[in-house]
Amino acid sequence: MKYPKEYLEEIKTRLKVSTVVSKTVNLKKRGKEYVGLSPFKTEKTPSFTVNDEKEFYHCFSTAEHGNIFDFVMKTQNLKFGEAVKSLANLAGMRPYTFSKEDEIREEKWKNYKSIFNKYVDHYHDQLLKNPISTEAKEYLKKRGLTLEEVKKFKIGFETNDLNFQENIFNEFEENQIKDTGLFYFDDNKKKYVSRFRDRVLFPIKNISGDPIAVGGRILKESKYFAKYINSPETPFFKKGSNLFNLDFARKLSNNLNNIFLVEGYMDVIGLNKNKIDNVVANLGTSLTTRQILTLNQFFHEIVICFDGDESGYKAALRAAENSIIELKPEKKISFLFLPDKHDPDSFVNKNGKDFFLQFTKNNSVSIHKFIFEHYFKKMDDSPSSRAVFEKRLRSISSTIKDEFIRKYVLEYFLEKISELTPNINLKYKKAFSKSPKSLKSTQNYYNETKSFKAVDIKEFSFLYILLKKPKLIKENFNIIENVKLFSNENKLLFSEILNQSKNFKITDIEYINIDHNLIERVNKYASIKHIITKNFNDDEKIIEILSELVRDLKNYELEIRIEELESRFSKDLSEVTFNELKELKKLQKIN
Ligand code: UTP
Ligand code: MN
Repeated sequence: MKYPKEYLEEIKTRLKVSTVVSKTVNLKKRGKEYVGLSPFKTEKTPSFTVNDEKEFYHCFSTAEHGNIFDFVMKTQNLKFGEAVKSLANLAGMRPYTFSKEDEIREEKWKNYKSIFNKYVDHYHDQLLKNPISTEAKEYLKKRGLTLEEVKKFKIGFETNDLNFQENIFNEFEENQIKDTGLFYFDDNKKKYVSRFRDRVLFPIKNISGDPIAVGGRILKESKYFAKYINSPETPFFKKGSNLFNLDFARKLSNNLNNIFLVEGYMDVIGLNKNKIDNVVANLGTSLTTRQILTLNQFFHEIVICFDGDESGYKAALRAAENSIIELKPEKKISFLFLPDKHDPDSFVNKNGKDFFLQFTKNNSVSIHKFIFEHYFKKMDDSPSSRAVFEKRLRSISSTIKDEFIRKYVLEYFLEKISELTPNINLKYKKAFSKSPKSLKSTQNYYNETKSFKAVDIKEFSFLYILLKKPKLIKENFNIIENVKLFSNENKLLFSEILNQSKNFKITDIEYINIDHNLIERVNKYASIKHIITKNFNDDEKIIEILSELVRDLKNYELEIRIEELESRFSKDLSEVTFNELKELKKLQKIN
């Protein structure tokens, strides 16, 4: 019989994990945690940790992990019920006596499970074996499903088997059957009819893997019927608490950090088919904080990936505003937007696993960034619109429960807002590629060399000057030596130039021992060569150009480092990263 959650919670609140564990393991405090020798293994150096705040223990040498009940069960070899009794006693609580209601509920749950299992198994069987299901089978095949997915998800086809229905009604009581939502009473026909007839069935399971609801899809879309219908709420199926495929996906959390959250059944199945199994769906309802909390129990990062259409975007925004509330320091929520008209299913089937994962890596945005950018796009230049914008962001950050996250998200927003003030205006100063600010005269040359990024061209120009005017190197060594180049070839050339320029006698580097191809590239692509030729004897002018190039290259390096830090900050939200970021931004303003 199941203990009520509240009773178990009370035991947990009264007993710290360290209290329970220290009865058998000698623990030492270390920071927020306790450490000790593993009770699961003989060892000399402690690899066993206890975290009271997170209410679990973890053993690094055996990967054993759990809460106080698990600990007692494992170390004392007890069943769950016995562990509860023993811990309740330790917590000074009375042993739980199951009430009449508990017994009734337990009985109901047994029948509910039993009806669902029979139903799901039967119609899965019907799909596989009954010729009536040919059309459904064809349909699934057309959608790219193989027997493997059909079996893994126990997909069925509701053939409206009246014999089966009769058997169920003989075996179970009417009320118990009504509770499942699988059949409903048709007032016209004066009898029970099956809710999902003629639909492909997708069983929805609870976290332990028992089917508790189903979703049914029609074979041919029509304007008269909903494409999908899902089980209604029942005593054992609450929308907003469950997630499709959580029972499978949660098992992957030992090896994987992140979980994809998608909209539909077919998205989960499509990703699975492409060997991406860490995925769950919230099934078209809006995402609840409970679902976020559940996923966070298992996974470090939630990647929300809804359909690439307007309704998917709207759902994502709602999800963002709902889930930022629960954001925790060690957790991350990010969003992945697919190209228009794609959903995860179609996208992964078209492009495959590797592309999908690479796309995720390159394109997912963290929750605070997504929210910022959404409202930023909606804002115009008027003061009132800006005010509304800032207020909205402040109010969103104020909903965040965790005090540190609240602080940093707010700071992030404010920092971004301050960048919008026109005299600083960093927003529009983004990387060279977008706005080659200095050296206007060289802009015309950009078009000749489209395959390079603007920064590559700058590198070529920089090196070109060094090659053509080697004597300037020594005179300006202090501004040149710390320049960081990004392309590997240019780096190589640059370090050769620096090396060889230390040799006093050399006046024309072109004649010494450097790979000629590297020099050729520079000669060919340096957009600056005409200006240099024209001003060859005007050293002052050339030094001016050189300094501008150096400044631009340094700024580019800063941009890259800031981007790196921003992405790190969105992962770790740590104070250190944040401060480092602030420093760099200050530097950027000075330059
Ligand atoms: P979609 O229409 O995006 O579903 O709705 P899908 O999985 O891509 O469907 P296919 O590929 O056409 O089969 C997303 C989810 O919203 C719920 C379902 O859970 C669906 O998987 N939904 C959708 C409904 O509950 N009812 C509907 O009529 C439509
Ligand atoms: Mn879809």
